[in-house]
Amino acid sequence: MIAVALVALVGCSKQSSDKAEQPSGGTAAPTPAAEKKLVVGFSQVGAESAWRTAETKSIQGEAAKRGIDLKFADAQGKQAQQIQALTSFIAQKVDAIVLAPVVETGWDAVLQQAKDANIPVILVDRGVKVSDDSLYTTLIASDFVEEGRMAAEWLAKKMNGKANIYELQGTTGSAPAIDRKKGFEEILAKYPDMKIVKSQSGDFTRAKGKEVMEAFIKSDGKQIQAVYAHNDDMALGAIQALDEAGMNPGKDVTVISIDAVRAAFEAMVAGKLNATVECNPLMGPLVFDTINRLRAGEKLPKFTQNKDQLFEQANAAQVIGTREY
Ligand code: AHR
Repeated sequence: MIAVALVALVGCSKQSSDKAEQPSGGTAAPTPAAEKKLVVGFSQVGAESAWRTAETKSIQGEAAKRGIDLKFADAQGKQAQQIQALTSFIAQKVDAIVLAPVVETGWDAVLQQAKDANIPVILVDRGVKVSDDSLYTTLIASDFVEEGRMAAEWLAKKMNGKANIYELQGTTGSAPAIDRKKGFEEILAKYPDMKIVKSQSGDFTRAKGKEVMEAFIKSDGKQIQAVYAHNDDMALGAIQALDEAGMNPGKDVTVISIDAVRAAFEAMVAGKLNATVECNPLMGPLVFDTINRLRAGEKLPKFTQNKDQLFEQANAAQVIGTREY
């Protein structure tokens, strides 16, 4: 259920007039207009992964710190709920909308409504495919294609250019699932003996990652030499399935994933996960700085990229203490 109600703007203090009435009946010197609290609507994909929860906390925490009235709507992985949330934010005349879109397509109509209402839309973490780029203001995200490339380069080196790879894809139709596959396959094209044997969606969740891995193990067993998961949660589910089947993840089966959440570092320290490519979810400060710059009339780039790096077992124990999510 969407946690957004169609209510009048809250926290929106009445603007004071330039000249305040004096008890005596005279007029005081002009006072600055009372500060209006900024109202921002945030439509989040859901809570499918540890990464997603970290992103939500970062945006909510930063809004609280800055005294921003953040209207939060969890779409539970459903685009229809996100469209409903956006329609509600527009009706409430929020000052800005922050959208983490579950899938890439199907946004034109609602984004047009936001544009017509002069409400800037800041896309976070995932991009959209729209007929007209002016339908959103800016995108703050990682380069998912590059993350896929980094994972493939690392795996090809580790496997000496030869491996049967089993891929766990993210949510079908989502930007990270499409782009992480694309970048990975682009690099694999250089290594004819690195083959994706099976590839299926685990919807970015640990439970589905485990379920899909169990099916791979059942059909292909010992043929499985490497697992490429589009996020850590699915890799952790797959590791559990491999462990239960006695297949030694991290040793006999090489596992690489994306996100670099704390649990992935724990799995690397335990020797079960081999590597993870970072995807930074700590977007709160940048999101609200961006909104402030927009309100100050600045022209913003269409894309601001978060920089990511790869971590592997060898340096996991040293780095784990410094991780923020
Ligand atoms: O869009 C970012 C991806 O979505 C993260 O990699 C994944 O964990 C999340 O659910």
